[in-house]
Amino acid sequence: MTTARGLREGDEPITMLTAYDAPTAAILDEAGIDVILVGDSMGNAALGYDSTLPVTMAEVESRTAAVARATEDALVVADMPFLSFGVDEAESVRNAGRLLKEANADAVKIESGPHTVEMTQRMTDIGIPVMAHLGLTPQHVNRLGGYTRQGTDQDAAEEIIDLAGAHAEAGAFALVLEHVPANLAGAVTEALEIPTIGIGAGPDCDGQVLVINDAVGLGEWSPPFSRQFGDVRGEMLDAVEAYKEAVTDGEFPAEEHSHVESALDDLY
Ligand code: KIV
Repeated sequence: MTTARGLREGDEPITMLTAYDAPTAAILDEAGIDVILVGDSMGNAALGYDSTLPVTMAEVESRTAAVARATEDALVVADMPFLSFGVDEAESVRNAGRLLKEANADAVKIESGPHTVEMTQRMTDIGIPVMAHLGLTPQHVNRLGGYTRQGTDQDAAEEIIDLAGAHAEAGAFALVLEHVPANLAGAVTEALEIPTIGIGAGPDCDGQVLVINDAVGLGEWSPPFSRQFGDVRGEMLDAVEAYKEAVTDGEFPAEEHSHVESALDDLY
């Protein structure tokens, strides 16, 4: 079983993917993925919102519980949704605790910044493992003005390096680096004792993460830094069209899919 503390033990890169339901989590676990992130990317990837901002605690809690029920080995990390943290410290800690206590997550992920250093320390002290997240943090889309690459000039890169160190010192057990230059991600990885997990951050992180829809080819669009390792959308479309055709042609259900009860012979 993967634990937050044991994440950097092996020599192999850490593999992380998102999942938002039990069947997907079971597949990821069977494939030996180290970390399953119940990301607030569920907003776009599973719930039909056009950003992550509307995602609620109840939605993350229910999806995390489903993923945790289907996972035996991987570390299950629940993403804290927009405004579930950062408004009030006690509420932030309670919400994080709920994800462990009621939804069975092993850890929480927090989109990080200067305002989350103390919070990370407090949660860690209480016993809630925290995965930090720097670079592009999609919950800040309205402040950033889009989903653009971060840390591209000296000042911005230094701020990310400083914040990475501050979160590691505050007790974060891992750090997600999203959409930052590969050389910045390499420098952060070099500087930290805790593992970095990159998405659009080049090959020099300790691990990689992708949104499941992008990795398996379920969505109609995926970001330029991700790669589709399958064509699940195409496969599903073929299967659904084949089902429709079989029903409309009267070919399904066939005899082998039906049960005739002899005791009911008089009925029909
Ligand atoms: O919500 C999410 O899926 C994430 C990953 C992209 C790291 O934060």
